[in-house]
Amino acid sequence: MYPPHHRLRLTLTAVTLAGLAIVATGVGLRAETPPPSPTYLPSVSDLMIATIQPRHIRLWIAAHSGNWAFSAYELGNLKGALNRVSRAQPLVDGNSFADMTTAVTQQPFEALAQAIKQKDIGRFEQSYADLTAACNSCHQALNRAAVVIKVPQSASVADLDFAPGAE
Ligand code: HEC
Repeated sequence: MYPPHHRLRLTLTAVTLAGLAIVATGVGLRAETPPPSPTYLPSVSDLMIATIQPRHIRLWIAAHSGNWAFSAYELGNLKGALNRVSRAQPLVDGNSFADMTTAVTQQPFEALAQAIKQKDIGRFEQSYADLTAACNSCHQALNRAAVVIKVPQSASVADLDFAPGAE
């Protein structure tokens, strides 16, 4: 005969097997698991990380590499990406993403376009700093002051400032 704890283990194994049999027939799981959704709506945060931040970095690297064609290309893509964020997520806490974007980025975007056209790195620096300040002014206005964007320091350093104390 088995000692009592062995008997218990045998009983548990039998219960587990019975459970697996139910799952295997699909009776147990199908009712509780929602079907996969065909659409995935990324949040503003997802879109910032995936579509805005990398282009902000690339724009800077391109100009600093003297690749004015690529900076012009990336400037257009950054504007387009912000427009797509406004369409995907029109409101942030009740504020129009499109209106806020236009208010803060219009001037630096125009200045950047000019600087790139003239291949003027000095003017580019100034307007890129203004654009970066525009990113942060929106973060502050929307109570996301913890998100601090900076001008990249080198081609391999990201522009996200993790230093604490920004709130
Ligand atoms: C119209 C307002 C607005 C503008 C302009 C804007 N952002 Fe944002 N950004 C937000 C909001 C809102 C969040 C926070 C989203 C959240 O918490 O869900 C955010 C978050 C971020 C984050 C952090 C995402 C994370 O979760 O780590 C990054 C990075 C970022 N923005 C980059 C930028 C850059 C770079 C620019 C400028 C080129 C920019 N943003 C311009 C509104 C804006």
